[in-house]
Amino acid sequence: GDPPLVLGLETSCDETAVAVVDGAGHVRAHHVLSQVQAHADYGGVVPEVAARQHIQHLDGLIRKTLDDAKIGFDALDAIAATSGPGLIGGLIVGVMTAKAMAAATGLPFIAVNHLEGHALSARLTEEIAFPYLLVLMSGGHCQILAVEGVGRYRRYGSTIDDAAGEAFDKTAKLLGLGYPGGPAVEREAGRGNPDRFKLPRPLMGTPGCDFSFSGLKTAVRQTAEALVAEKGAMDTADRADLCAGFQAAVTDCLADRVGHAVARFQEDYPDFRAKPAPLVVAGGVAANTAIRRRLTDVATSAHMVFHAPPLEYCTDNGAMIAWAGVEILKTDPARDDMAVGARPRWP
Ligand code: KG4
Ligand code: ZN
Repeated sequence: GDPPLVLGLETSCDETAVAVVDGAGHVRAHHVLSQVQAHADYGGVVPEVAARQHIQHLDGLIRKTLDDAKIGFDALDAIAATSGPGLIGGLIVGVMTAKAMAAATGLPFIAVNHLEGHALSARLTEEIAFPYLLVLMSGGHCQILAVEGVGRYRRYGSTIDDAAGEAFDKTAKLLGLGYPGGPAVEREAGRGNPDRFKLPRPLMGTPGCDFSFSGLKTAVRQTAEALVAEKGAMDTADRADLCAGFQAAVTDCLADRVGHAVARFQEDYPDFRAKPAPLVVAGGVAANTAIRRRLTDVATSAHMVFHAPPLEYCTDNGAMIAWAGVEILKTDPARDDMAVGARPRWP
């Protein structure tokens, strides 16, 4: 494979993930250790539990990843780690581990913004040229960006309250579907009738590209409470119909906001009126089939080409962090972020 060869660590939330990626986008090895079990009883991620899990598993996972890639540190060109935004305890574990390895080996350390990792993840498996329109939907973030290049992003909109994934997680918790909520809600929604409950579509029909999901979440809670008050408990069909209604509302909102972003993108980059520009989705919620299908339609009717990373690179993983390290080194070969620390907030 082509240089640079980069080791990437991801510890910003509830997966401990490590990967080795080369300059041609070949993933030489990657491992994701989910902490879902450790957090399941709490119905969400507990920061202190997450940090301890990262400490416990990270060095073993690095060893295993290097072994699987059949390389030692001497073959590497850099060590990258997610340095923010995220939960501070986990970020410190990843950043300090990466810096310690960098200091011991003399390799440069690359501090990767988690969102930049998601933003560039589609270029790991496909040749997608800049600029492109990116819809980033995860548990912690919901943004639409024009991606002009590595480190060059223009934000068109973001959530004013909950992230899309957070809305899925809260809905799942409310309906007793466990954590993480996205896959469970999608499964239930597939069996339900999306038209039975009338749920709000916050901000839909208003100008701009911002999102809002907290009103929808409240409406789901009130609907569930009304059902319980009426008949004592919700049955399987109620739950499926509510999930279907919720997913349809989220999908409508996303399609509406992305529609506005497409118009703005085509104004900002007029060259792309002639040739089809890429519409890229990333983040855990991009794993949702109904949402993918709908955004594919939005792209097609705007003469854009829809791209989504393979599912394993949509949710948090180390390959996207290693790949961001590759992209950063290709753009700025002298970069070394030894002076950069963990940053829980990093816009
Ligand atoms: O990108 P990610 O792994 O972590 C963050 O950076 O937040 O995204 C996780 C989020 C969770 O909120 C999860 O419920 C959501 O992505 N998610 C889904 C699906 N799979 C994961 N949401 C909707 N449908 C899915 N199939
Ligand atoms: Zn993420």
